[in-house]
Amino acid sequence: MSAFDVDAISLASLHQRASAKWRAYEPDVIPAWVAEMDFPLAEPIAAALHDAIDRSDVGYRWIGELPDALASFADATWGWNINPEHVIVLPDVLTSIAQAILLLTAPGDGVVVNTPAYPPFFSTVRDLCGRELVDVPLLRDPSGHYELDLEGLAAAFARPEVTAYLLCSPHNPTGLTPSADTLATIAELALVHGVAVIADEIHGPLAHPGTVHTPFLTVSSGDLTAVSLVSASKAWNIAGAKCAQMVAGSTRVMDIMAERVPLEVTYATGHFGVIASIAAYRGGGPWLEQVRAQIAANAHAVHEHVTASLPSVRFVPPASSYLAWMDFSATGIAGDPAEFILERSRVAVSAGPTFGAGCDGFIRLNFGTSPAILAKVLSRITHSLP
Ligand SMILES: Cc1ncc(COP(=O)(O)O)c(C=O)c1O
Repeated sequence: MSAFDVDAISLASLHQRASAKWRAYEPDVIPAWVAEMDFPLAEPIAAALHDAIDRSDVGYRWIGELPDALASFADATWGWNINPEHVIVLPDVLTSIAQAILLLTAPGDGVVVNTPAYPPFFSTVRDLCGRELVDVPLLRDPSGHYELDLEGLAAAFARPEVTAYLLCSPHNPTGLTPSADTLATIAELALVHGVAVIADEIHGPLAHPGTVHTPFLTVSSGDLTAVSLVSASKAWNIAGAKCAQMVAGSTRVMDIMAERVPLEVTYATGHFGVIASIAAYRGGGPWLEQVRAQIAANAHAVHEHVTASLPSVRFVPPASSYLAWMDFSATGIAGDPAEFILERSRVAVSAGPTFGAGCDGFIRLNFGTSPAILAKVLSRITHSLP
């Protein structure tokens, strides 16, 4: 039995939403930019939030059973054994990344990032934390397939100023989902060079059926300084509720974090975020299974459409999540393809150049929607191309 009816989703009802995705553009634009999905809220989450409203339970967050709920979910999903006492609850993953960088590195240190990169990584590392960003671009083969550059990472980790690596696994925007072997190699390299690993694993629960997401802390030694940043926000589409979890890789790292993460930062976590996250980890499994199957089917549909109707576009379907990283550089569009698509197709996508150097001809398209809306998006883009 399905958790929801994907064909019942309509643009008219989505336009009633007041979130960033639906309010940033004119009503005739179909938004396919920011990473929010169009599926209805998972029923156990909706029930938990309705109950809270009915109790007038809108005060400050209380962490309660969230670490236990996360630990049970991680064990059942990945065989990842989390010590609930090694979990710090924070408002969101970007705040968690900033705290990890601030507490595990020193001003002016180098933090390694792999471009193309989720755009807020740049401002978080440089502006918020005052660290140097050291780019080790992903390797891309002629077919458009991406891999982590292990030699490049080894060389960067050997630089004296580099003290941390911001790993994004699964990777936004490419959907690259590194193997356990690759992650174990990275963990060893980081340990040898004394580099802390900050693993953003927010897209982990959205690995497509048949893809294995390996939590970084399951392959790294406790001697490595490492944290994993997880959240129900992306997988269950509750980003506005504001709740993420930092999992420390060892008691030593937990002691650093517990002592130094400011209490007021942990209190910025949303009470609804905690309630929704517990409901997601405890009862959101059937909904998540349907979403994983749907986004995998959508990735396939995008690929089929590109092959049949957009042969000048290069696109390799992602192994995780609902973001399509598409190379429009051979389409003949002059300038930024995202601008062109917004103007001519009335579809809002994310602009490639914001993901780093060398991304000029690219767009990121969010396909976390119904097959009918996705078909409309693809048809609008196809009909406006030169
Ligand atoms: C890789 C990655 N990290 C972090 C975030 C932001 O997460 P949060 O809203 O919890 O800060 C996103 C959002 O799309 C993301 O894709």
